[in-house]
Amino acid sequence: MSDNTERKKITVTRFVNKKAKGEKIAVLTAYDYFMARILDKAEIDSILVGDSVGMVLYGEKGTHPVTMEIMLAHVKAVTKGTSYALVIADMPFMSYQPSLKMAISNAGRFVKESAAEAVKLEGGIEMAETVKRIVECGIPVMGHIGMTPQSIHRFGGAKVQGRKEKSRQYLIESAQALEEAGAFSMVLELIQADVAQEITAAVNIPTIGIGSGKFCDGQVLVINDILGLYDIYTPKFIRHYANLPPIIEKAAKEFISDVKSGGYPNEGESFLKKE
Ligand code: KIV
Repeated sequence: MSDNTERKKITVTRFVNKKAKGEKIAVLTAYDYFMARILDKAEIDSILVGDSVGMVLYGEKGTHPVTMEIMLAHVKAVTKGTSYALVIADMPFMSYQPSLKMAISNAGRFVKESAAEAVKLEGGIEMAETVKRIVECGIPVMGHIGMTPQSIHRFGGAKVQGRKEKSRQYLIESAQALEEAGAFSMVLELIQADVAQEITAAVNIPTIGIGSGKFCDGQVLVINDILGLYDIYTPKFIRHYANLPPIIEKAAKEFISDVKSGGYPNEGESFLKKE
């Protein structure tokens, strides 16, 4: 922290209050204990354990194959490695859409089994009742509207949303319905920037943008994207803050060369017979 004020745990309340204070919110994804520790030390406001895990860790083409079991394991690892950031668990495809009962039960599993502090689910006005019921059970919910990847086939690809008047209206009504249902925040994904700005002004809860321009209350990116570790597809809104693959490759090459030449391990790296 830049000043001497004591660092406080980011609770849902503190996260929400940042909007009223005009403080931008920074969110990154993470999927394991050690990355969570690094991001927490960097003072990220929130860690989202996204279902993007399917693509960036498991090599899937999309998020559809991700299961509750996969998500529960990754969320558990992340909560163990986090002391300050708000940890949000992403509900995977078909873990909440089929019924309210299923949605509540799976949201509850994230809190009970993986120590998540909140869940995120995709969908607008049509998901408002689901959000309401989960919130009524005491679980904070983050909404997610715009180009929601679990519905990518319905959108016909990763297309920018809000370009047409009907889409703009649907997004604004959805944002308001999610707020009314009790969502504490919402992700705006791939929404035309002026529409994202309008949504941000229309609700009192923080909007967290990804590919939706600079007028959102905060921004979220996938950690593997910003580190250059996901090279299958790079949308224009991704900014690379590091390029790790050549660094990893160089380290691996040096190890290989040391092993082949007999340079590794040396005596100091071995357990020699005691005198
Ligand atoms: O799964 C994910 O990582 C996400 C973010 C990109 C918003 O949903």
